[in-house]
Amino acid sequence: MNIILLGPPGAGKGTLSNKIIDKKEAVQIATGDIFRYNISNETELGLKAKSYMDKGDLVPDELTIDLVWDAFDKHKDESKEGKIILFDGFPRNIEQAKALDLGMEERNQKIDHVVYFNVDEEILIQRITGRRVCTNCGATFHVTNNPPKKEGICDKCGSELIQRNDDNEDTVKNRIDVYNAHTSVLIDYYKEKGILFSIDGTNSPDEVFEEFLDKLGE
Ligand code: AP5
Ligand code: MG
Ligand code: ZN
Repeated sequence: MNIILLGPPGAGKGTLSNKIIDKKEAVQIATGDIFRYNISNETELGLKAKSYMDKGDLVPDELTIDLVWDAFDKHKDESKEGKIILFDGFPRNIEQAKALDLGMEERNQKIDHVVYFNVDEEILIQRITGRRVCTNCGATFHVTNNPPKKEGICDKCGSELIQRNDDNEDTVKNRIDVYNAHTSVLIDYYKEKGILFSIDGTNSPDEVFEEFLDKLGE
């Protein structure tokens, strides 16, 4: 089963992905995480992506679309057998959405659901500026909403927590503008296909997960 998580920065896409992966047979394809991995390993892709990400702009499609297929093709057979493949942060514009449709068709597959997270802008900024992520396992915390037991240390693996490079107030505002200008059109795109459902992303992570299961019919 192929599911897109669609929502603005800080909406809770990563947080819901982690809950789904904990509780169900699922894997995540998160383009932002793939870029960050490449940046920290100083690969050619990482070097190219970094300047866009630091500003909060979209990385060009030609650097993005192929890496999604590389990741998807590792799981495409499991997807047919019912494993949930979560697209987190992709597609982010109409061109990417069309490339995804085409590639799915070529593989005799389809996007089954698109989950849209509805969250107000002030909440997004508060969430993003307070987010802390683990340098080792990628676990996500928040200084007030979801603090780690020991400040600056990951509950799951004991490694150091850091703030993402793009998690400052200026960059966040640009990321939200970019979302409004390029990504939000996908809400109608998938509504017209009849595969989109909305969830209230302002609720707690557990409630968001419950609503996701409800709407999925489970
Ligand atoms: P990406 O990494 O995808 O970032 P994003 O879309 O900006 O989304 P975030 O990861 O910031 O938010 P999230 O929805 O995952 O929220 P989270 O669950 O962590 O992309 C980064 C950059 O990469 C882009 O700007 C772009 O440059 C590039 N890029 C990526 N994909 C691309 C593509 N397809 N094309 C081109 N460029 C691309 O939650 C946030 C915080 O809130 C956390 O602290 C969490 O603890 C807290 N929180 C979450 N849910 C709740 C809740 N329900 N209640 C209270 N607190 C909550
Ligand atoms: Mg994320
Ligand atoms: Zn960790």
